[in-house]
This record gives sequence, C-alpha cells and structure tokens, in this order.
Amino acid sequence: MNIREIIAKKRDGHALTNEEIGFFIRGYTDGFIPDYQGAALLMAMYIRGLDDEETGYLTNHMVKSGSTVNLNAIKGVKVDKHSTGGVGDKTTLVVAPLAAASGIFVPKMSGRGLGHTGGTIDKLESIPGFNTSLSQEDFMKTVRTVGFAVTGQTADIAAADKKIYGLRDVTSTVDSIPLIASSVMSKKIASGCDAIILDVKLGSGAFMTDMKQALKLSKTMISIGENAGKRTFCLITDMDVPLGNTIGNALEVIEAIETLKGNGPDDFTELCIHIAGAMLYVAGKCHDLNSGRDMARKNIENQSALKRFREFIRLQGGNPNVIDDYSLFPCAKESKVLLSNTEGYIRKMDCKRIGVTSMELGAGRKFLTDVIQSGAGIRLHKKTGDYVNKGDLLATLYSDDVEKLDKGEALFLESIEFDMERPPQRSILKATMDKDKTEILCFPELVC
Ligand code: URA
Repeated sequence: MNIREIIAKKRDGHALTNEEIGFFIRGYTDGFIPDYQGAALLMAMYIRGLDDEETGYLTNHMVKSGSTVNLNAIKGVKVDKHSTGGVGDKTTLVVAPLAAASGIFVPKMSGRGLGHTGGTIDKLESIPGFNTSLSQEDFMKTVRTVGFAVTGQTADIAAADKKIYGLRDVTSTVDSIPLIASSVMSKKIASGCDAIILDVKLGSGAFMTDMKQALKLSKTMISIGENAGKRTFCLITDMDVPLGNTIGNALEVIEAIETLKGNGPDDFTELCIHIAGAMLYVAGKCHDLNSGRDMARKNIENQSALKRFREFIRLQGGNPNVIDDYSLFPCAKESKVLLSNTEGYIRKMDCKRIGVTSMELGAGRKFLTDVIQSGAGIRLHKKTGDYVNKGDLLATLYSDDVEKLDKGEALFLESIEFDMERPPQRSILKATMDKDKTEILCFPELVC
C-alpha cells in the first residue's frame, strides 16, 4: 500500500477502505509515515470528510493502536463520562460521586488541560497529596471501595490518538466531526466501560458553535459507541457562558465541593444533575431521565455523594480535610478585583477568551510542558444576563505573577459585551440524544 495514493484518493473525495485507514494509523503511530504525509491526509480528511463507515474504521484502528482496559473484575455497571471540553468544566468531580452514590461504578481516566480548556487531572492535583497516577491495582481498589476513581490517561490508551491529536492541533484540523468523534470514542471504547455519557459542548467556548454540527457530532459518536456494544447517550449543553462561577484549578475544586454540599451555582448544579441522571438511566438504575435526576438530587441533599468524595480523596492519597477547610488549597500570591466602568446587562461573554485569560493568569498551559499555578484563575461575580452598575464587582483575577494580572484584566474586559436590554434567559441543557430518540429543548439562536 502506498500513502501517497491514499492521500490522493481522499484529496479527490473518494472513500477510503478499512485496509487503507489501518495502513495510515499503523504507519503514522509506528513512525514510518512522516508528519508531512500525516498532515496532508488529515487535511484531506478535514476538507473532504469521512463517511460513517470510514469513521468507524478509523475509530477501530485507533482503539487497536494501544492497550485496552479490562474492567471485568469490577462487578456491576461501569459508566464513563466525557465532555468535549469547556471553560470552568469541573463536572467530573461532582457527577462521579453523584452517580456512584446510587450504586454504579465510574472508573474514570482523565486528561490535562491545554489551551483555553481545563483538565480534571490538573484540578485534582490542586488537592495536597492527591495522586493522579494510580497503579492498575490501586485504581481498581478505589473504584470497588468508593464507586469511582480518577487517574491520568496513559499514553498507551488509543496510542494513535495522542500522536494524531498533536498533529491536528498544529495543522488546524481539530474541529472536524469525524476526527473529533473517532478521537473521543477510541479513548472511551479502550477505557472498557459498559456505557458512555457524552457532554457535547455548544457555544463560544466549545469546538461546536452551531446546533446542527453538535447534533451531527452526537449522532456520529452514538453510532460508533453502539456499534462497539457500548450504551451511548449524548447531552448537548451550553458553553456560551463559563460553567459555574470559577475558572482555575483549586478554585474549581472548591466550587465542586460546595456543589456536593448543596451550595453550588445554579447552572453548574443543574448540569451535574442532568449528567448524573443520564448516567443512572443508561446504567438501568431508573426507568427514565427524570427519575435519574431525582436520584442525583437526593444524593446531594443527603450528602451521600460528599461522603464518597471525601473517601475518594483519602484513598487517592489527598488530604480529605480540604473539604472542611479551603485554606488547605494552594492560593495565588496576587489578586486583582475588576470593577465595571459600564452600566447595563451583560449581553454576551466570549467564553473562549475567558478561558484564555485564565490560562494567561497561570491556570492553564499553552504547551503541554508548561507548569501551571494551582491557585490561579478567575472568580466571576457577574455573568451573562446579570445587570451591572458602574463600580460593581465583575470578577476577581488570581495569579502568582502581578504582571499577569494586568494582561488578564485587558483580556477579560474585552470578553464582555453590555446592552441596556435584558437578554433572554439561557438554559444549560439544549438537547439530549439517545440511539433512537432526539429531544431538542431549545435552539441556541433563540437563546433559551
Ligand atoms: N476531545 C478529544 O479527545 N478529541 C478531539 O478531537 C476533540 C476533543
């Protein structure tokens, strides 16, 4: 087989065979197909697209390119959850204990943050002593004991994806539906769970900024998952406004704990209940989504999820006292309050720019090798839809470097637009999609 011919075939708009896609994945992962040919083929795929069959082949070859996790030793339904990436997204920290408290298992492999989006592993590492590199034995033991565990994703899971994602990142080929779907689903399938809940983010802080695209991505991922024998369910959720009131690692863990205590921000709490409810539903713990949501709500009210979170921190080597004493978290050396010099409603927040602001403050990475500041980030005092008077507190920025605060201030202020007219109320859940049923709750154009 010849990679030049495969590139030319896709460039000219023809479908590739299973063998041709397998040849590319093996060749690129093993290093005998160089970056320039890999980049050319990815760009051809990006422009010409892949049909459902090709996307399935691509996913299967990516799964086979690395190792797969065997979770058979855990007796019970194992459910994974994945978000396509957002700003202020600390959902895993809340939904894993919420779902586990109703008797399902959530063995979670998570990643680090890159660019404007954060990563669960970085957030958890802000807990003093917390270990995110568990041995397989400790990972299984924690899942069995407390119902969930979170460990860093090994390079070996869907090994091809790690290399291909790196190349997509620098060749502007990330936001392609078949490439995103195969990247996400290859990792989820290799991670060994029985069911997968996908939180597809939609809006200015997400890869998908258009509802039609988000629906197409969801449909593609459900079809890949179900064909692999995994129960797969998607929620399309708002990412036009940062999630909750904090962005940054320690700040977000504290907000997640507050949510488990029942004091979380409304949008974030609601999203966690929707996701945990869907996890319980696909696991067969209830007959419909509403009952799943009720179960999740109850696990906040009776503090059973909080109790599990405390035990999870202890089992993974962290200091569980952080739950009662937030001063144990790392704290940024410097902070700056931002006051409004405008009056009116916040009409729009550029979510991606706010994520970039947090990264510039030290909470995120431009490159995977960057060292992050666990205490850095942003606390939002006002969000889209709020009325602001001149002199009102808009946000507090945190960083270890005072000069980063000035740059952060300029970036943050550029991300907000005001209007004298009240914007329509937003809702966090835009749509749900099961294998045979799609429910569209609102079109983002209607801003409901
Ligand atoms: N998340 C992934 O894991 N892969 C993508 O391609 C995009 C988001």
